[in-house]
Amino acid sequence: MPHAHFNDEDSNTSANPAFDHVLHARLSRRSLLRGGVGAASATALGGAAALSGCSTLGPVAPVNALGFAPVAKTMADQVSVPAGYTARVIYALGDPLTADTPAYRNDGTDADFGNRAGDHHDGIEWFGLDASGQPSDTFASRGLLAMNHEATTDEKLSSFFIHANGGTSTLPRPAAEIDKELMIHGIAVVEVQTDGKAWAAKPGSAFNRRVTTMTPTAIHGPARGSEHLVTKYSPDGTQARGTLNNCGTGRTPWGTFISGEENWFGYFFRDAKDDDARKKDKQVQALNRYGRKAGAASRHGWESGGASDTYTRWNNSAIGASAKDDFRNEMNTFGYIVEIDPYDKRQALRKRTALGRLGHENATFARATTGQPVVAYMGDDSRGEYIYKFVSDAKWDAADARPANRLAAGDKYLDKGTLYVARFKDDGSGEWLELSMDNPVIANSSYFEFKSNADVAVFTRLAADAVGATKMDRPEWGGVNPKNGEVYITLTNNSNRTPATADPANPRAYTDLKAGKEQKGNVNGHIVRLAEKAPTDASFLWDIYLFGAEAGADKSTVNLSHLTAENDLSSPDGLVFSKATGVCWIQTDDGAYTDTTNCMLLAALPGQRGDGGSKALAHGERTVTTHVGKPQTTATLKRFLVGPKGAEITGITETPDGRTIFVNVQHAGENTRMADVNDPSKFESRWPANAGYGAGQRPRSATIVITKNDGGVIGT
Ligand code: FEO
Ligand code: CA
Ligand code: CA
Repeated sequence: MPHAHFNDEDSNTSANPAFDHVLHARLSRRSLLRGGVGAASATALGGAAALSGCSTLGPVAPVNALGFAPVAKTMADQVSVPAGYTARVIYALGDPLTADTPAYRNDGTDADFGNRAGDHHDGIEWFGLDASGQPSDTFASRGLLAMNHEATTDEKLSSFFIHANGGTSTLPRPAAEIDKELMIHGIAVVEVQTDGKAWAAKPGSAFNRRVTTMTPTAIHGPARGSEHLVTKYSPDGTQARGTLNNCGTGRTPWGTFISGEENWFGYFFRDAKDDDARKKDKQVQALNRYGRKAGAASRHGWESGGASDTYTRWNNSAIGASAKDDFRNEMNTFGYIVEIDPYDKRQALRKRTALGRLGHENATFARATTGQPVVAYMGDDSRGEYIYKFVSDAKWDAADARPANRLAAGDKYLDKGTLYVARFKDDGSGEWLELSMDNPVIANSSYFEFKSNADVAVFTRLAADAVGATKMDRPEWGGVNPKNGEVYITLTNNSNRTPATADPANPRAYTDLKAGKEQKGNVNGHIVRLAEKAPTDASFLWDIYLFGAEAGADKSTVNLSHLTAENDLSSPDGLVFSKATGVCWIQTDDGAYTDTTNCMLLAALPGQRGDGGSKALAHGERTVTTHVGKPQTTATLKRFLVGPKGAEITGITETPDGRTIFVNVQHAGENTRMADVNDPSKFESRWPANAGYGAGQRPRSATIVITKNDGGVIGT
């Protein structure tokens, strides 16, 4: 997400942390173990045995050393990579996705964004093609990049870089401006190919696709047909339009693309009198919990564009005779994990409601094992939100690694299953608490009225509150270590964490200076690590693998991972394990250390949970004892890339041979003032134009491709 604007949502006013709250945990455990899952718990801790079954992944050839010279911190307006590597831009905002779409002028006069690259490139996944254009898990010179276009760089309502004079910053906004903005959000699939010398996107590829805020989508899973999804567009609550604020990504064991809808709530307007209009509707509580109070203004004022549903759907107020006559439930159609078949653009996107409705970052899958459920881990990115796990009812069949119908495989594994939320205990263990009507805490809740599993799927945050989940410091990406099955989840930062609310899993609350100004809380973020006996288990062990910090910070209170100039970082966000090499790639979305360095990408060779020990941190009269990973050195963590000014480093993916990586760079120049939109001398960034890419001077989000000059494996 753009770090400066819309990640400040903070609507978890529940009484949790409930850290010592043992509420019905045993009931949850018992229900998890139904259906024979218990047998899997006998697998060895660390997952080696869990990995030995029939797998969807190729063999891992782990690297044992990071063989590049670390990149220095810098505020230069460029992409910096190690000596011996080359980074090139291949796909930027506005680039044509059809053969007859004109080249991007990049001056605010371009149109037809439904046939162009969207904005704010985020999570990205590689889907290989062989020479004949068939899906391939091994081909490394031709493939599809499926990626999220999360948001736009904006100020006062307008996505100003895509409008000629910066656009309109007052209400009502012109329909023509809104129409552009509606189309630059969503997802893209773009074919890329190398001739052995250079990679390039193929604008004329028949695979290229855009999904936007207006693309028809199908609701799947327990919430399909729910009364809470009924809109004027879909009176039976089975269909919706579009996807929004797509952040992290994932790749399913059956070869489809997964995208998380993250900060969608900010796009909706609610009338100041909407609580009264809804009378005793339980949704008033849910709307507040999901960050939309009555009278909330929307991010772009899209509701103001005119009488068409294209615009009125962004007004989430109860203004009609019934839910069939207005869009009071439109917000409930967002907040899901969505799945698309990247190889077949005729297939509609499916919203997988069984995985819950949150501020979804990504979904990362445990290695699929024959005869066991499919398991995915997910974070809810807002301050004080939770970490989730989904366990499918269906057991993995290795034949589904290459299914005839990929989305039917998605129906099989993602439409029926059980959602859990994490509770971290202070002894370094934790429990997964079941979120379903089978859990009496939810079925009998006095906190919120859950009538069905559809209600749990739509009002997931309230269900997690009810069972006493642990409030975390903004859960972002998750990744599963292919070596041992351990689950890593970034906790990017939390300005609301205080010495009074610090707990073992979120143990730091401190003051840091940025250009002389105080910043408080968990300023630099951390990465938590979970070890389960098997992915289906109801309990886990945890530690904190890594603490973000400035190299100069106190090693006994803040810089607990002993970071140095070669590997210090702030606000970890993206986290992806290479399937080819086992390297853990960590990306930052930072606003705290940006007086010293732009955001970055680091390469890590992590150990395992419990390799550090415990650590007592004094917070005034309180002492919080946490569990830490071993200190880092440049043998285990090194900076690989620093991005241009104002940019966040978002997604990363690779070819199966590990010799090419694709990295997304989001919102370079985002601190440019709207008033300066036509004065390049005042832009915060002019990347990638200043790297020789494309027309105009306005900064653009973009995908870069990185190769090693000697053709070797990246990072080695
Ligand atoms: Fe879109 Fe949580 O970053
Ligand atoms: Ca992110
Ligand atoms: Ca500082």
